[in-house]
Amino acid sequence: MSYEWQAPQEGDERSPCPALNALANHGYLPRNGKDITPRQLFEALQKVFNENTSFAMYQVAGCFTLYGENWVVRNDLVDQLITNSIDGKIKSESIKNTFRARYLDCKENNPDFTFGFFQVQLASGEYSLFQNIMGANTNKEVDVKIAETFFREERLANEWTRPNSSVSLSTIFGTSNEFSKIINAEIKKLN
Ligand code: HEM
Repeated sequence: MSYEWQAPQEGDERSPCPALNALANHGYLPRNGKDITPRQLFEALQKVFNENTSFAMYQVAGCFTLYGENWVVRNDLVDQLITNSIDGKIKSESIKNTFRARYLDCKENNPDFTFGFFQVQLASGEYSLFQNIMGANTNKEVDVKIAETFFREERLANEWTRPNSSVSLSTIFGTSNEFSKIINAEIKKLN
């Protein structure tokens, strides 16, 4: 089995999640992105991201109840995240600043924009996964090159290393809660 990165081919399916897409691009999940079984996903999350058993089970369960998101890749947001890097790293401050810009942009340009409890939880969870998995061995800070490779190519950079210790739900929730507080404080300031 080769886990070389390959760009998706015509007809292949991809999700709104850069991490899941990277798993398919590397062949840890079916490269065509179709008919993924819970077992395949469960095994890939542990093998690649070192998620512990209960956390991987939680994510698989969540994944198979999620469907139908309209999603467009926003390259300008990746640009902003990179611009907000500090000393070549994506830190919490970088994420907060990118969130603020994204929030203001949506608020001004999207008349249907709502950002309530659900959106706060979702965003906080994504930020937490990113820090705790992509930045697992680097103090939760993510090297800009690794972040760019992840978001733009949906590829695991050669410089990235699998988390040294397994990632648990409580770790993810802990960081996610911190982010919820940060985001809620920002929203308060912006309204
Ligand atoms: C089975 C597990 C997973 C599922 C079902 C899942 C699902 C999703 C979905 C539906 C979105 C888009 C949500 C939105 O509209 O904003 C998303 C975004 C995201 N996911 Fe995942 N994800 C999973 C695992 C992971 C892992 C392991 C990581 C980290 C390595 C991760 C990192 C992210 C990030 C950073 C985003 C934000 C992308 C962006 O806004 O540009 N996800 N995920």
